[in-house]
Order: sequence, then C-alpha cells, then structure tokens
Amino acid sequence: MAIKAVLFDAYGTLLDISSATAQLVAKQHYPALADKAEALTSLWRTRQVEYSWLRTAMADYTSFWQITQDALDYALDATGLAGDAALRADLLALYADILPYEDALGCLRYLADQNTPCAILSNGNQAMLDRAVSHAGLTPYLTDVLSVEPHQTFKPSAVIYQMGASRFDAAADEILFFSSNGWDIAGASHFGFQTIWVNRQSLPVERLPGKPHHIVSSLTEARPLLQGHYQL
Ligand code: LAC
Repeated sequence: MAIKAVLFDAYGTLLDISSATAQLVAKQHYPALADKAEALTSLWRTRQVEYSWLRTAMADYTSFWQITQDALDYALDATGLAGDAALRADLLALYADILPYEDALGCLRYLADQNTPCAILSNGNQAMLDRAVSHAGLTPYLTDVLSVEPHQTFKPSAVIYQMGASRFDAAADEILFFSSNGWDIAGASHFGFQTIWVNRQSLPVERLPGKPHHIVSSLTEARPLLQGHYQL
C-alpha cells in the first residue's frame, strides 16, 4: 500500500494525557490529589472529547484549550477538588507542556529516516499544539502541525480529515493515520484513510462505521507494519 504521508492524532497518541496529573502526584504537593488522580484524569479526558463533539453538534465552536479548561473544571468539581486555584493552575501549566509517550520519538525518527512526510492532525488549536510539540521535542520530525482551528469544528468531521489529505495532495487512502482514540480511527477509516489504532488501553472496537485497518498496543508495535505492509 503506497503512502504519501503519515498523520498522527496528538493528545493520547503522541502526547501523554495522563502526564500532567502523574507529575503532580509524584511531587506530592497536593495530598488530596493522590487517591483521586485516576478519576480526575479519566473524567478530564472524557469530558474534553465529549465537549468537542457536543459543541460541534451545538454549532458553538470554542478552542480546544478553552474546552480543556472547561473539562478540567468539571472534573475537579466532580472529584471534590474544585476551589484549589493553585492545583488548577499547576495542572493546566503541565498540560500546556504535556509530555510525549515514550514510544513517540522512536516512531517519528523511524519515519524521518524513511523520508516519509509526517504531520499532526489534531483537535487542538494551533497555539496549544505548537507549544506542546515544541516542548515535547517533536518539531524536527514533523512537516506540519495541522489544527482544526481554521474550520472551527472538530474530528471526526470529514472536513478535518480532508484537510489532512489536501495538505499532502493525497487521495484519502494514500494517508496513513495513527490515533489512540477508537472514535477518531472510526472517523478516519470512514473517511477513507488507512488507519492504525494505537489501542493503549486495550479497549473494544467502537461500534461505529469505519473500522481500524490494524490494531497495535503501542507505536513501537506498529514498526513491523511500517516496514512490511506499507510503501513509505
Ligand atoms: C486530538 C485529540 C482529540 O485531536 O486527541 O489531538
């Protein structure tokens, strides 16, 4: 299968969405956080993606950074952690400088060695993405960082996947797309991308139109596919 470019989802795929909470737990600055960290991280992420879909349905776009703050406020409230302004500020600062997953750089380096154009295609707004990508050290390996912002909508809207294909003058099936989000993979496969689901949490396949072409548990595990299945 000939591939013109490889596109990556950002949050949860290259960037570790549990890293902000994990770093604060490790520092032990907030004792109340310790036994609520898992619930907070999960609820923060769940509401973040849900708010992006709901705002799309409501035709009321706001930036993913604003949505990230709104989702955090909900999650802090729901876990009994609301009202601690320093905790909120620290979590947001660490999310702005979110850490990459350990397997992200190796995968991007491998693709760079093949001279395969790589880009991010993310619901994040441009400033949020540019800061995170730079801080995570991913900039040298990416041809572009594509944000949904110009279209004022979110994945899984087809217009966003089309933006990714158009950027590389590619047909849909000439794009290989990585995401850790089952719903994002469904949207991308439905659009026509070749897809690899990085199923980091061993979740079932979503019952949506558009199935993953391949399922791996990490970006490292995708290496044989990149070497054998696709012409990069
Ligand atoms: C992203 C989020 C949704 O698009 O994971 O980066």
